[in-house]
Amino acid sequence: MKTQVVIIGAGPSGLLLGQLLQHAGISNIILERQSPEYVLGRIRAGILESGTVDLLRKAGVSRRMDAEGLVHDGVEFLFNGKRYPIPLKKLSGKSVMVYGQTEVTRDLMAARNEEGGTTFYQTRNVEIHDLQETAARVDFEYHGEKYSVECEYVAGCDGFHGVSRQAIPKEILREYERVYPFGWLGMLSDTPPVNDELIYAHHDRGFVLCSQRSLTRSRYYLQVPLTENVDDWTDDRFWEELRRRLPDTLANKLQTGPSLEKSIAPLRSYVAEPMQYGRLFLVGDAAHIVPPTGAKGLNLAASDVNYLWRILCKVFHEGRTDLIPRYSELALRRVWKGERFSWFMTGLLHEFHDRDGFDQRIQQADREYYLSSEAGQTTIAENYVGLPFEPVE
Ligand code: APR
Ligand code: PHB
Repeated sequence: MKTQVVIIGAGPSGLLLGQLLQHAGISNIILERQSPEYVLGRIRAGILESGTVDLLRKAGVSRRMDAEGLVHDGVEFLFNGKRYPIPLKKLSGKSVMVYGQTEVTRDLMAARNEEGGTTFYQTRNVEIHDLQETAARVDFEYHGEKYSVECEYVAGCDGFHGVSRQAIPKEILREYERVYPFGWLGMLSDTPPVNDELIYAHHDRGFVLCSQRSLTRSRYYLQVPLTENVDDWTDDRFWEELRRRLPDTLANKLQTGPSLEKSIAPLRSYVAEPMQYGRLFLVGDAAHIVPPTGAKGLNLAASDVNYLWRILCKVFHEGRTDLIPRYSELALRRVWKGERFSWFMTGLLHEFHDRDGFDQRIQQADREYYLSSEAGQTTIAENYVGLPFEPVE
């Protein structure tokens, strides 16, 4: 087989890149380890920056998002029982869209099926070869048969546990990491959200996020120690703990119901550099992870896709191979700003049991400053709605 770009991974990064390349007349094949049902079974965040929304529109997959997604012009913070609404639109000129990542992935899969894009699901033993040669080669197994694809470029969209990052030699790859001493216990339920806007709340018992998927579906998160076991959290225990961490005005409004899903996720900040090596580009979670505070995971993946798609269009249509090394530089500049914001929001809102008195007071002062000053709120707003993309020239 032969194609212009082999994309490894059919998560949001791989599918969105595939769709944009397809529309630009650049042939591509996607190789995915799991089945489509498995990929769609993963529950992830649900906030799209305005730049991500624009990119999904450019990719021609926005019909359902535009019909069903909820535009939010604000977000709320809460600490010491006091509520701080942040008018995102007024302060930054932009809004965010509440639309689940699972739905984004479903729309991208449907579009690829309709348009006849080639995707091999349930592949095994994907191997990347010849990244420094005149053509790269990707070998894989599918239903017990061995296959080989020759291509010009490989897009490593295979998430944190994928194989692509390992194709960069150890002496070249640099890794930067922070792990946090707690996790998020998430719960999805078919109950109306407790508040119109999302609420990010600090409480002495730990952070809380009141999020939503629609007017009838809520997503709540509680900060928990990493030693917690999800099986010890009955629905009743979850709702009880959530109520304890919310002020009475909200706790009394909270509508409870059976959970559709419950899971605990650890929090991590991670970046791998460079994001390009020879004919390989790393995209999304394959190169970076953020803690979910601020919902930057999918949005940074879309940011990488935006840069890579624009660069590959110029490479294939205008012969601009000089842009290839620019990918890492452009993508990382925006990635690090997303990393900074997610790390900052995590530090601002969580309860850190290992912080001493000085650090705790600085955290308190930070919360008071950022939330009560217009300049502080504007800083949060412009990062939350998403920083602009740089032009690719
Ligand atoms: N071969 C083929 N496919 C693979 C391999 C492999 N060796 N390893 C991993 N994959 C697939 C995974 O099964 C998964 O479907 O790559 C895909 C990677 O998808 P994601 O982990 O969703 O990563 P990405 O597309 O970059 O999405 C980034 O989505 O996953 C969230 O938290 C993440 O919000 C972030 C955004
Ligand atoms: C979610 O709805 O799952 C969500 C929203 C905002 C975040 C993280 C997760 O910051």
